[in-house]
Amino acid sequence: MTTTTSGACPFSSAGAEFNPFVEPYLADPYEFLARAREEEPVFYSPEIDYWVVTRYADIQSVFRDTKTFSATIALEPLTPLYPSSIEKVIEVGYVPGPVLVNEDEPLHRTRRKRIGDAFAPKRVRELEPRIREIVTQYLDKFVKDGRADLVDDFVWEIPALVIFMFMGVPDDEAGLVKQFAARRTLFTWGRPTEAEQNQLVEEVGTYWNYCKSHVARLSENLGDDFMSDVIRAHREDPELIDETYLYNTMLNFLFAGHETTTNASGNGFRTLLENREAWEEICRDPSLIPNAVEEILRFSSSVIAWRRRAVAEATIGGVEIPEGANVLIVNGSGNHDSSMFPEGDSFDIHRPNADRHLAFGFGSRTCMGSPLARLEMKVILEELTRRLPHMRLVGGQKFTYSPNTSFRGPDHVLVEWDPASNPVPDDRP
Ligand code: HEM
Repeated sequence: MTTTTSGACPFSSAGAEFNPFVEPYLADPYEFLARAREEEPVFYSPEIDYWVVTRYADIQSVFRDTKTFSATIALEPLTPLYPSSIEKVIEVGYVPGPVLVNEDEPLHRTRRKRIGDAFAPKRVRELEPRIREIVTQYLDKFVKDGRADLVDDFVWEIPALVIFMFMGVPDDEAGLVKQFAARRTLFTWGRPTEAEQNQLVEEVGTYWNYCKSHVARLSENLGDDFMSDVIRAHREDPELIDETYLYNTMLNFLFAGHETTTNASGNGFRTLLENREAWEEICRDPSLIPNAVEEILRFSSSVIAWRRRAVAEATIGGVEIPEGANVLIVNGSGNHDSSMFPEGDSFDIHRPNADRHLAFGFGSRTCMGSPLARLEMKVILEELTRRLPHMRLVGGQKFTYSPNTSFRGPDHVLVEWDPASNPVPDDRP
């Protein structure tokens, strides 16, 4: 790679090589990102029209500078809408209004405080027994089989069921919402063709109407759940939280609450089983699981990159970024940066500063759901290590990933074991 100098017409060999939608990046982004951090840590990508930021300190400074780097771009489709898709958006009635993740200060701060009250730590903590029950039900279904796909059979639906419970949505529609969410990932962070994008808009429209209907249903009978509290906040202050804001909150929290956590768990299974010593250690000593969760989030981040737009000229890592430029902050790359994490490309569940990772962002807009995601991953690993410590990855499997810039987790993780050796007697055939 040659060093980019900046500016209006930047030449960059990293930029020429970078394509986040295809192999080899999809299967293993970290080899490319290590070279970028070393040789060209901030580069312009013509493929996506973004400035790409790869070093820990630079990523942190972008997250920190909320004045220069606007979050309003966070949910804009990375592939601009074709005119035919814009027509469809109007036709299906989807109003992609603001929601916490894509609004700037001062409104972001005010709304985050209001919505944060509904996301109380106590409400999250109280979910633990119910999360354990759900995890147990899913494990029960395959523990005697000797073979499973830990994504399809296990963590595909669990985070959706948890977020449904949290948000007051009936849980028999988890499969449907997972489909909506997967399509929404491609709509917002993927590279669809015009025909594909038209189709995706239709599906996002269905998802939108689905969310509206749940807000209407909850409004008639408020409960003790997060979304009911947000509806209460709307009634108290309808200017601050209007109806469109309610629908977008429903749609985006439903999405943020499971896609990320399913992927994070899938990354965890793959990484732990490929690092067998670490897996065996957490099986022997479950008190190591919380730090192992941090190390999984660091080593194999399920949100590998996030977005900002420079609303003024800026300098990142010595590179000038023009006003109006799009910025892709590759937090997954920062999480491998050896200046913060010695031997950052190695997986070490004892890493003392694993929790300094940027997997949940950093600063005033850090992921609001991180306590819930951490709790789910902890319970999932506690139950899996207790009941299937002897499982192994099926040899020769190829891991595949959805072609998008930001959400990363294996589509499948195939494992096998001898059910006659299951340590819990009731789990044996
Ligand atoms: C492992 C799982 C998760 C990961 C890796 C993750 C990651 C992230 C990241 C990178 C951001 C962007 C921060 C920024 O713009 O600076 C974010 C924001 C957010 N996440 Fe998560 N997330 C996860 C789970 C969840 C869950 C379970 C929820 C619950 C509903 C959630 C709700 C949110 C919300 C509401 C925001 C917006 C916060 C704000 O802008 O103030 N996330 N998350």
